[in-house]
Amino acid sequence: MSYNNDQIYANPQSANPFKFDQKVAAVFPDMIKRSVPGYENIIHNIQQLASQYIAMNSNGYDLGCSLGAASLAMSHGNQQTGVKIIAVDNSAAMIERCATNIDGFKHQTPIELIQADIQQIEINNASMVVLNYTLQFIPQALRLKVLQQIYRGMRAGGMLLLSEKIIFSDDTINRLMIELHHQFKRENGYSELEISQKRNALETVLVPETMSNHIQRLQNIGFAHVSCYQQQLNFASFIAIKS
Ligand SMILES: C[S@@+](CC[C@H](N)C(=O)[O-])C[C@H]1O[C@@H](n2cnc3c(N)ncnc32)[C@H](O)[C@@H]1O
Repeated sequence: MSYNNDQIYANPQSANPFKFDQKVAAVFPDMIKRSVPGYENIIHNIQQLASQYIAMNSNGYDLGCSLGAASLAMSHGNQQTGVKIIAVDNSAAMIERCATNIDGFKHQTPIELIQADIQQIEINNASMVVLNYTLQFIPQALRLKVLQQIYRGMRAGGMLLLSEKIIFSDDTINRLMIELHHQFKRENGYSELEISQKRNALETVLVPETMSNHIQRLQNIGFAHVSCYQQQLNFASFIAIKS
């Protein structure tokens, strides 16, 4: 399947909240690479972590899988038998394209696709769970419940990988990080109009939290080992291991 360059916000348009619809799904690999610093590195890390953390006869979950980049990374990294990767997304457009995308790549570990809200699915026998830039789209008050459900469905020794856009409690740092992120997007070919229209569209849909909020909540839930393992500007990835 071929993917186009992201030009969704190239022309002036009326402000509508951002949606993971057909238009976004058709340009998603280009959009995420040009918008999220460190994205490709995280996908590479997911493959490495899968080789260490996915256990025999267990499940790996990719929650908010979009086109399945993290699912494929887990599938490629897995070294064990009796493993299934379960990829979940509530966008019909994403799931449809994800199915074609996954078929196009050789992968030994089976990947099951489910179109559902991650708040509704049960997590079972999970040795690895990936939430790669998905939790930020769940209403803030409901995030704890989602993470608790994940924790309950994880095996001892299992790993949760969480990546999020973050904010900073220090206003000066926060403004600087936002500006540096806009600079990153300019360098990747986005115009001022594209940057500001996308920012407005995401404003009510993607609500970032601070790094300390994320770490504290994961610890409060019961994860024994929690750390940020990668930060690039206002994007951070965390690992949380259940004892
Ligand atoms: C930024 S993308 C995730 C990128 C993807 N994890 C990757 O690594 O390429 C966010 C995805 O989460 C999905 N999503 C948002 N809210 C969701 C929910 N409540 N349940 C399931 N999927 C959700 C969106 O449809 C979208 O595909």
